[in-house]
Amino acid sequence: MFVSFEGLDGCGKTTQARLLAEALAADGVDVISTREPGGTPLGEEIRRLVLHGDHVAPWAEAALYTAARAQHVAEVIRPALGRGATVVCDRYLDSSVAYQGGGRRLGVDAVLELNLAAVEGLLPDLTVLVEIDPETAAGRVGDRRDRIEQDLGALWTRVDETYRELAARFPGRYVVVDGRRSIADLAAEIRERVR
Ligand code: TYD
Repeated sequence: MFVSFEGLDGCGKTTQARLLAEALAADGVDVISTREPGGTPLGEEIRRLVLHGDHVAPWAEAALYTAARAQHVAEVIRPALGRGATVVCDRYLDSSVAYQGGGRRLGVDAVLELNLAAVEGLLPDLTVLVEIDPETAAGRVGDRRDRIEQDLGALWTRVDETYRELAARFPGRYVVVDGRRSIADLAAEIRERVR
């Protein structure tokens, strides 16, 4: 099984991804946790370029995230799924569709198409969207700023709208949970939905 976590920066998805992986491992499931951008040496290099480099043009940004993802799928995700492991991934292609497609206005379908080509059609079985409103997200992120986090406001509003659009478009794959709830409550709900 392939589970991805999505949401705005500060929504708590990283904590929830870790808790789900721990719970599955405690149940005896063979599970690997990974994250995007990153997850491979090439991906970590790309992460550094795109998050901390100078101005990156929107399509360059989309292409870099997509390149990192292609490597991640080839090197980590497909081999793990192939040996029957469960993969829990902190962000996947929906992040590009939401941030670059919606946030940077490159177009949802254009970015989705690029990504589906790069990963040869590999979609998660389940995508957990941890929903919080953009203002709460910005408040939680506070001083922790990277390049993308610097221009919050309008960008995050469009990212949030795009995530909702994706959840409506792929109801079989998406599970939407309320990120304002306590960490423990959310973890229990997510575990239940995954089981
Ligand atoms: P993330 O790793 O979730 O942040 P952190 O580890 O700092 O909590 O994501 C880093 C940023 O990259 C985040 O602002 C979202 C952005 N991002 C994209 O814009 N497109 C993508 O395809 C991915 C994977 C991330």
